[in-house]
Amino acid sequence: MAVASLERFFMASRMMCMLVLLYAVLPPKGPARTRWTPQHFWGQQSAYAGSRACQGCHANLYKIQEASNHARSLRPLKEIEKITSCLPFRLMDPSSQTELFLSRKPDGNIELSVRKDGKEDQIILEWAFGAGAKGITPVGRRDNGQFVEGRLSWYETLGTFDLTAGARERIAQDISESLGRSLGEEERSRCFGCHTTGSTAESPIPKREEMGIRCERCHGPGLEHIRSMASGNLSDRKIFHPGRLDGFSQAQLCGECHGPPPADSDFDAIRYIQQKALTVRFPSQRMVLSRCFNEADANLKCSTCHNPHANIAATRTHYDKICLGCHRLEVRKRSAVCPVAKDNCVSCHMPKGRVMVHSEFTDHWIRATRAGVTTETKDSLK
Ligand code: HEC
Ligand code: HEC
Ligand code: HEC
Ligand code: HEC
Ligand code: HEC
Ligand code: HEC
Ligand code: HEC
Repeated sequence: MAVASLERFFMASRMMCMLVLLYAVLPPKGPARTRWTPQHFWGQQSAYAGSRACQGCHANLYKIQEASNHARSLRPLKEIEKITSCLPFRLMDPSSQTELFLSRKPDGNIELSVRKDGKEDQIILEWAFGAGAKGITPVGRRDNGQFVEGRLSWYETLGTFDLTAGARERIAQDISESLGRSLGEEERSRCFGCHTTGSTAESPIPKREEMGIRCERCHGPGLEHIRSMASGNLSDRKIFHPGRLDGFSQAQLCGECHGPPPADSDFDAIRYIQQKALTVRFPSQRMVLSRCFNEADANLKCSTCHNPHANIAATRTHYDKICLGCHRLEVRKRSAVCPVAKDNCVSCHMPKGRVMVHSEFTDHWIRATRAGVTTETKDSLK
C-alpha cells in the first residue's frame, strides 16, 4: 500500500513536471468546473500493453494513427528523409559568428559541429522532435549524459534549416554552447513527456513504437481491456473513452499538451489569454473563450472538428458543415446566422497567425474579428 501510494505520488510529480512549461505561461487557479484529472493513468506502468497490442483488433484505426503527426512527433533523427536530404548544411550563426555544420557520418548518424577561432566541438543529434508539419528540432546527448537541444531546426515553410526558435536571442558564451541549449533534467523529462507515450523518469526514451503520442497516451493503460475483450466480455470494456468527456474536460485532456484551459472563475488567466497573441499556440486555452463553446446547448469539443487519430482534415466544407450545424436559419432561435458570407467560415472566424518564427497557428477563439490575429502578433514574433 505504502509503495503503491509512493509510486502514485512520484508519478503525480512527474506529470506536474510535464505541465510546468505551460503552467509557467498560465498559472492555474481554483477550479470552477470539475477539472479532468488523469489520476487513473498514474502509477500503472505495468498495466500498459504498448500500441502494437492494439493493432490486431483495431487494425484500421491503428494504421491511420500510426501515420499521424501525433505518432510521429518523436522519431530517431536519422530515419527522416526531410532531414537527410538537406545534408550537408552549413550556416554562419549571425549572433555569435560561429560556423554551424550539419552532416551525415559514414555510420548514418547525424552530427552537428561548430567551429570558431580554431576551436571546435561536435555532438551526435539522435532524436527528432516534431513530425515536420511545422518543424523539426533535433536533440542530442553529450558524452556526460547532458541533453542538448540543437541550435539548428528544420522548418516546413523554408524546406531547410535555420536557427531554432529562441536561439537568436541566446548568444552562445562558448564554443560548446554554440551546439545548442543544454536541457536540465526537469525540462528534458517535460520534452520527452509531451512527445512520447511510455516516457518515465528512469527511462525517458521509450521503445521505438512508443515514441510519439500513441494509443495509451490518451486512453490510459490497455492490458485489462485486452484481457476483457479477448475473453469475450464486451459489456465491461475497461478502458478510458475520451469521447464521453464533456467539452471542457476534453479540452483539459488535450490541453495537457495543447495548453491547459482556464477555469471559469480565473479572470486573471482569461484576461491574459485574451491579451497575449502568443496563446494562439494553445487551442485549448483559446477555444474555451468562444461564445460557441460557452453558449451552445451541445458542447463544442476538440473532437467535434478533429479526428484525434488522424491528421487535420483541411477542407473548408468539413468545417462549414460543423459551423452551419448550429448557425443556420432553422436553429436561428439559438444561434445567429452570418450577415457576411455563406461559406469558408474559418477563413474569417478562425484566422491563422504567425505567432512563432516560421510557423502559423489557428486562432481557436471563434469570433468576429476583422483584422485576424496577424496584426496583433507582430510584436511577439521571436
Ligand atoms: C482482443 C481484441 C482487442 C484488443 C487487442 C484491443 N481492443 Fe479495444 N476494443 C475491442 C472491442 C471488441 C471493443 C468494443 C468494440 C465496439 O463496441 O465496436 C473495443 C473498444 C475499445 C474502445 C472503446 C471503449 C468504449 O468504452 O466504448 C477503446 C477506447 C479501445 N477499444 C482502445 C483500445 C486500445 C488503446 C487498445 C490497445 C492497448 C485496444 N483497444 C486493444 C477489442 C480489442
Ligand atoms: C501527449 C501530448 C499531446 C496530447 C495529450 C494531445 N496532443 Fe495533439 N499534438 C501533440 C504534438 C506534440 C503535436 C505536434 C505533432 C507535430 O510535430 O506535427 C500535436 C498535433 C496535433 C494536431 C495537428 C495534427 C496535424 O495534422 O498536423 C491536432 C489537430 C491535435 N494535435 C489535436 C489534439 C487533440 C484533439 C487532442 C486530444 C484528444 C490532442 N491533440 C492531444 C501533442 C499532444
Ligand atoms: C507541454 C507539452 C510539451 C512540451 C513540454 C514540449 N512540447 Fe513540443 N509540442 C507540443 C505540442 C502540443 C506541439 C504541437 C503544437 C504546437 O506546436 O504548439 C509541439 C510541437 C513541437 C514541435 C514541432 C513544431 C511546432 O511548433 O509544431 C517541435 C520541434 C517541438 N515541439 C519540440 C519540443 C522540444 C525540443 C521540447 C523540449 C525542449 C518540447 N517540444 C517540449 C507539446 C510540448
Ligand atoms: C490524441 C489522443 C488519442 C490517441 C493518441 C488515440 N486516441 Fe483513440 N480516441 C481519442 C478520442 C478523443 C476518442 C473519442 C472520439 C470521438 O468521440 O469522436 C477516441 C476514440 C477511440 C475509440 C472508440 C471510438 C472509435 O473511434 O471507434 C477507439 C476504439 C480508440 N479510440 C482506439 C485507439 C487506438 C487503438 C489508438 C492507437 C492506435 C488510439 N485510439 C489513439 C483519443 C486518442
Ligand atoms: C455547438 C454549436 C455551435 C457550433 C458548432 C459553432 N457555433 Fe458559433 N456560436 C454558437 C452560439 C450558441 C453562439 C452565441 C451567439 C449566438 O447565439 O449566435 C455562437 C457565436 C458565434 C459568433 C459570434 C461571436 C461573438 O463574439 O459575438 C461567431 C462569429 C460564430 N459563432 C462563428 C462560428 C463558426 C465560424 C463556427 C465554425 C467554425 C461556429 N461558430 C461553430 C454555437 C455554435
Ligand atoms: C470549430 C472547429 C474546431 C474545434 C472545436 C477545434 N479545432 Fe483545432 N483546428 C480547427 C481548424 C479550422 C484548424 C486549422 C486547420 C487547417 O489548417 O487546415 C485547426 C487546427 C488545429 C491544430 C493545428 C495547429 C494550428 O493551430 O493550426 C491543433 C493542434 C488543433 N487544432 C488542436 C485543437 C484542440 C486541442 C482542440 C480542442 C481544445 C481543437 N483544436 C478544437 C478547428 C477546430
Ligand atoms: C469574409 C469573412 C467572413 C466569412 C467567410 C464568414 N463570416 Fe461570419 N462574420 C464576418 C464578419 C465581419 C461578422 C461581423 C458582422 C457585423 O458585426 O456586422 C460576422 C458575423 C458572424 C456571426 C455573428 C452574427 C451576429 O449577428 O451575431 C456569426 C454567427 C457568423 N459570422 C458565422 C459565420 C459562419 C457560420 C460562416 C460560414 C458559413 C461565416 N460566418 C463566414 C465575416 C465572415
